[in-house]
Amino acid sequence: MCGIFGYVNYLVEKTRGEIENTLLDGMQRLEYRGYDSAGLAIDGDKENEVLLFKEVGKVAALRKLIKTSSADVNKTFVSHVGIAHTRWATHGPPSPLNAHPHSSDVTNEFVIVHNGIITNYRELKALLVSKGFVFQTDTDTECIAKLCKYVYDINNHRDLDFTELAKLVLIELQGAYGLLIKSVHFPNEVIATRKGSPLLIGVKTDKKLKVDFVDVEFPDFPEITVEPAAAVSSATGPSLLVPLAGSDLRRSQSRAFISDDGVPMQAEFFLASDPSAVVEHTKKVLYLEDDDIAHIYDGELHIHRVRREEGQSTIRSIQTLEIELNEIMKGNFDHFMQKEIFEQPDSVINTMRGRIDFENKIVTLGGLSAYLNTIRRCRRIIMVACGTSFHSCMATRAIFEELTEIPIVVELASDFLDRRSPVFRDDTCIFVSQSGETADTMLALQYCIERGALTVGIVNSVGSSISRQTNCGVHINAGPEIGVASTKAYTSQYVALVMMALSLSDDRISKRARRHEIIDGLGKISKQIEEVLALNDQIKEMAETSLVNQKSLLLLGRGYQFATALEGALKIKEISYMHSEGVLAGELKHGVLALVDEDLPIIVLATKDSLFPKVMSAVEQVIARSGNPIIICNKDENAFSKLKTTYRTLEVPATVDCLQGLLNVIPLQLMSYWLAVKKGFDVDFPRNLAKAVTVE
Ligand code: F6R
Repeated sequence: MCGIFGYVNYLVEKTRGEIENTLLDGMQRLEYRGYDSAGLAIDGDKENEVLLFKEVGKVAALRKLIKTSSADVNKTFVSHVGIAHTRWATHGPPSPLNAHPHSSDVTNEFVIVHNGIITNYRELKALLVSKGFVFQTDTDTECIAKLCKYVYDINNHRDLDFTELAKLVLIELQGAYGLLIKSVHFPNEVIATRKGSPLLIGVKTDKKLKVDFVDVEFPDFPEITVEPAAAVSSATGPSLLVPLAGSDLRRSQSRAFISDDGVPMQAEFFLASDPSAVVEHTKKVLYLEDDDIAHIYDGELHIHRVRREEGQSTIRSIQTLEIELNEIMKGNFDHFMQKEIFEQPDSVINTMRGRIDFENKIVTLGGLSAYLNTIRRCRRIIMVACGTSFHSCMATRAIFEELTEIPIVVELASDFLDRRSPVFRDDTCIFVSQSGETADTMLALQYCIERGALTVGIVNSVGSSISRQTNCGVHINAGPEIGVASTKAYTSQYVALVMMALSLSDDRISKRARRHEIIDGLGKISKQIEEVLALNDQIKEMAETSLVNQKSLLLLGRGYQFATALEGALKIKEISYMHSEGVLAGELKHGVLALVDEDLPIIVLATKDSLFPKVMSAVEQVIARSGNPIIICNKDENAFSKLKTTYRTLEVPATVDCLQGLLNVIPLQLMSYWLAVKKGFDVDFPRNLAKAVTVE
């Protein structure tokens, strides 16, 4: 999905080459989100000159293109603003023209990078075309750049401040955006703003910041009263000449950036849609909130809002990021996905760290404690998620039902919204998301907030939209997940959800023995994951020899293992591009058996639980039709002793039934990985997929 990166240096001398490298490296850190083209904008050699470089494909291709430019890489800039973007096509195919930054005109008076979608771009475009603007691209973003120039031109006699200009532009935009605006009219200044799309600012100064927050600046006068839709639909434009009476925006000084000696502070700012692009430069970051307009100039960061709302915070804190760069690097592994699969013994421990007292069998989830009683009293729990996160909900639904005795509904976010499913004030809605930015899940969250339900986030990315907009929640603490295919986030979400069910049921005596059994199981799970990872070579061989040339693959499971079958099938499809389907074993006889023959590979999840005899009967049905199953079973499972000599098995350790999916999914993650490697596919960047799906 699209990524934004911007770099501002103030009184810190940098060569053009250094600035380009900072921007390119920042974009490279965002590669894991998935993208199809990349571009950046920097200052040229002449006054008011902005250079744009845009290329289809990877950042490496853009780097190559920039190398061919005649611009002097040794030219130095004491202060400068550069903006960059990785694009995932939504409006118009990947092409250099459609790549960002987008420009207001041939002389690049305003250049823009944008994440999100402008839903009223057609109306804006019609207005701007009627004013003589000529559009070059198929994108929605181009209209923002042109709107900036239009607003600037019609107000040019009024000496607009960059913030004032941004306010006039933003009020016209509908949809979602994370946005950086650079302009020749405001050299070395940048506007960064967001609505529904994440954006943060890393701050690096030569002196210590005076305070660790930035004041939000509100207008002193009532507010801008223009009706945005009217301004556009009238197509006259004069309403864009809104007087911003009394807003002397430069009168203020940002408290954090005041130096004791009165000497201007050297400063660098790193603007990004994701902290992974910032962390190598600075740990001090400020997350923008929706509708914040950040204006960086003269080494200061100012945050403005168009209007003051009741109860709104008047500061934005500058936080210290905990993530280390080496946490987001590949280490000795060939791919991020492989690293993340092998990290699971640690990542599940990190999810439980400080939350489970194994000795006294107590689970404490700080982020939920104030809400536990409300959740216990709710009428039902609705779990909402997409993709792999949805599967973690499926995997834990039964244990939630068993321990809490509250009706549990698991919903795919898009379908939930399509149905406008009824939600009530006494519902608890749990939103599960690795990125915390998935558009469908976010929209479902808004939908539930509007209906007054209690909202809970189970999220990996700290500071993400879902983690900030839910009433309460649990961070899964799996660490950054960079491979597009989700692996360690799945097992950590699974553990976090089980912990939540344990926590909700800790007042029930009748559940005590069961709870203790599960807590003991969780205490051993990390070691057992290590044991399963030892199957790596066996799985690699199986993938490379008997599976790689197959067209299709079925995975059978029931009960707790249905979710594992679904998740395994998703992993195999998404990175090895092999058709695969997770089938509920009980449904086999209702149609799917027609597919079974001696060729179709069928993986059966047949670990021991109360449904084991039924799964065995599915295995027999497959064998009776000359099928050739691969059986994932527990070690020392006698029921298979005869079959083991004829059929292939993958033997995993046994744990409590509701945790067995944590172990069973790992051979399937490894299988998908080795299939993709053998086929020569780009494991970390599968085609047509993005890490954070921030469009509907
Ligand atoms: C699969 C995968 C996707 C995501 C889905 C939800 O490996 O990565 O199916 O699980 O897009 O994303 P999050 O969890 O970020 O909401």
